[in-house]
Amino acid sequence: MIKFWREIIIFVLTTIVLTMVLISHNLVPIAEAQPSRTSTTNRSLLSVAYPNRALSASPAQLPPLPYAYGALAKAIDAETMKLHHDAHHASYVNNLNDALKQYPNLQKRSVESLLLDLNSVPEDIRTKVRNNAGGHLNHTIFWQLMSPQGGGQPSGAIAQQINQTFGSFDAFKKQFNAAGAARFGSGWVWLVRNPQNQLQIVTTANQDNPIMDGFYPILGNDVWEHAYYLKYRNRRPEYLNNWWNVVNWPQVNRRAQPPSQ
Ligand SMILES: [Fe+2]
Repeated sequence: MIKFWREIIIFVLTTIVLTMVLISHNLVPIAEAQPSRTSTTNRSLLSVAYPNRALSASPAQLPPLPYAYGALAKAIDAETMKLHHDAHHASYVNNLNDALKQYPNLQKRSVESLLLDLNSVPEDIRTKVRNNAGGHLNHTIFWQLMSPQGGGQPSGAIAQQINQTFGSFDAFKKQFNAAGAARFGSGWVWLVRNPQNQLQIVTTANQDNPIMDGFYPILGNDVWEHAYYLKYRNRRPEYLNNWWNVVNWPQVNRRAQPPSQ
């Protein structure tokens, strides 16, 4: 009987030692760590221009406006839309292509990738790339976020998330408009998903995009004077308030989906 138990103990100890040796040599598969929410969110920053697609820089191209110039008259007049898209956005596209023409390797990268790693962009074109890649990305997102059928109360999952985070849609709008009005000079106001997977309101200067600060942009409004000055003159708060009449909530919901694995 004693011999039996001795053999059992020797067998168990041998198995334990053998298993430890195999693990130490990576010969036994152990469960891979699941990517954290934070790392998943960070990965998704490489593709923010469209809900599931990054923005090409080979060459950069002006996307067509998805509606007529006068279709957003509930908030923005036709002349402003035409200038904003055909002149301002077009110049960001042209300037970005001009900056990259001597660097074919950079043209192979997406606009998001350039903005996420500006230190890898040669210093002689870095500021030009920052301003114009940012301008191209921001406006590409912006046109999609508006619709002639837009406005009203938010729908879908984003409505619930806004209520949970800010208390109500009205409270959220108030904070968003206040942040946009307070952005000194030219820039943007955004609803973003932060690395902790929470909704947050942020602003960016000039044509910087929230990905440069580690945030995923869900919704954004352009507060450069070129976005509103013809109709609203210096009344930026009035523009911010009316802009909600054209917000494309189905598109906001597509952008607010959790990042793909
Ligand atoms: Fe703009």
